[in-house]
Amino acid sequence: MKQAAAKHITIGIGGGISAYRTLELIRLLKKSGASVTVAPTKAALHFVTELSLETLSQSACLCHPLQTNNGQISHIEEAYRTDLIVIAPATCDLIAKMAHGFADEILLQTLLSFQGPVLIAPAMETHMWQHPATQANIEILRNRGIQIIGPDSGDLASGRQGLGRMASVDAIFEHILAMLTPKDLAGIQALVTAGPTIESLDPIRFLSNHSSGKMGVALAKALAQRGAMVHLVHGPMSVTPPRLANIRTYPIRSANDMLGQVLELVDHVQLAICCAAVADYRPTQVVQEKIKKSQENTTLALVKNPDILRTLGQLSPKPFLVGFAAETSDLEKNAWQKCLEKSCDLLCANLITKANPVFGADENQILVFDQNGLILHIENQSKDRVAHLILDTVRQRLVF
Ligand code: C5P
Repeated sequence: MKQAAAKHITIGIGGGISAYRTLELIRLLKKSGASVTVAPTKAALHFVTELSLETLSQSACLCHPLQTNNGQISHIEEAYRTDLIVIAPATCDLIAKMAHGFADEILLQTLLSFQGPVLIAPAMETHMWQHPATQANIEILRNRGIQIIGPDSGDLASGRQGLGRMASVDAIFEHILAMLTPKDLAGIQALVTAGPTIESLDPIRFLSNHSSGKMGVALAKALAQRGAMVHLVHGPMSVTPPRLANIRTYPIRSANDMLGQVLELVDHVQLAICCAAVADYRPTQVVQEKIKKSQENTTLALVKNPDILRTLGQLSPKPFLVGFAAETSDLEKNAWQKCLEKSCDLLCANLITKANPVFGADENQILVFDQNGLILHIENQSKDRVAHLILDTVRQRLVF
């Protein structure tokens, strides 16, 4: 599924210091394949230059209320062309003008001419944000269906700390992707396991693995963007779980914790994706005191952990089940066998080699199997994109 690629986004910029952070947002959107036109207000151009905006967006800016292009009225043309208008930062003044239908900036004229989705990222001092006038204007915009992200708490332009900082560029970018993605999994409750598990040896040491959790997080994000309600059960990951309204996170440590949490949730989900790198074994006992290094040699007694995916495969009724397999040899044979043995509807296999370490990487390459064998080869690309391609196959087969 394409998200930002082939979409056109209008970025409005208000006159606030966080305008400099919007430059990075434009860069991210361009990198993801979107075309972008920037509409800065007069005040915004005191903070960022037209030259920077045009260079990053590779497109002429909309700066003047009476602007035309080859005889066409620019704000009307833009309103018909664009898929989404994002205003970052949305200042107090811009919010007030939007709420009351002012049209003294080309950005406001474009907004009035546009009938599609709008996202604003407010940014201002705490008292300006909390002022009843601003809050009343925000309420008007919210009731009109305009989406609002932030503001966050943090460092403000005045040097004070408080609520009013523009949401992070990453959060705005993720929100934009979610808004552009068709909601073909709306109504689905999905369970995703991600990251490693940690099996304690004593109060200080543990057994674990190199899983970063990136693939599981990419799947959770992609599911949420497509409208599913996601339950993300995860071990300690090197990535932060996404803060999206329809992702609920359940941090756990051991395989047994993960199994317990998964079994609590499974009756309520139609789809379960087991992406976690669950430790196959745990120490037979967790020693209460730190193990001393008094002996030259020592042995660890290990006991097998429960297999969560296999447990889910044996349920009846069971959710649509997607497993993962990381193999270092004979990928196709081992992966298909795993799909059969663990009763998966789909199994995604990645070959781990020195050249393709997978763990911790931002990209992945996957073979997808069903009960009849290999059905899809997903070429090496970003884990976010791989997640959407896996979900395209899930969507074709999931009955709900
Ligand atoms: O058997 P193997 O570990 O290769 O299987 C990988 C798949 O099984 C993954 O989907 C993983 O999340 C799942 N798994 C599990 N519980 C285990 C071991 C693996 O759910 N104890």
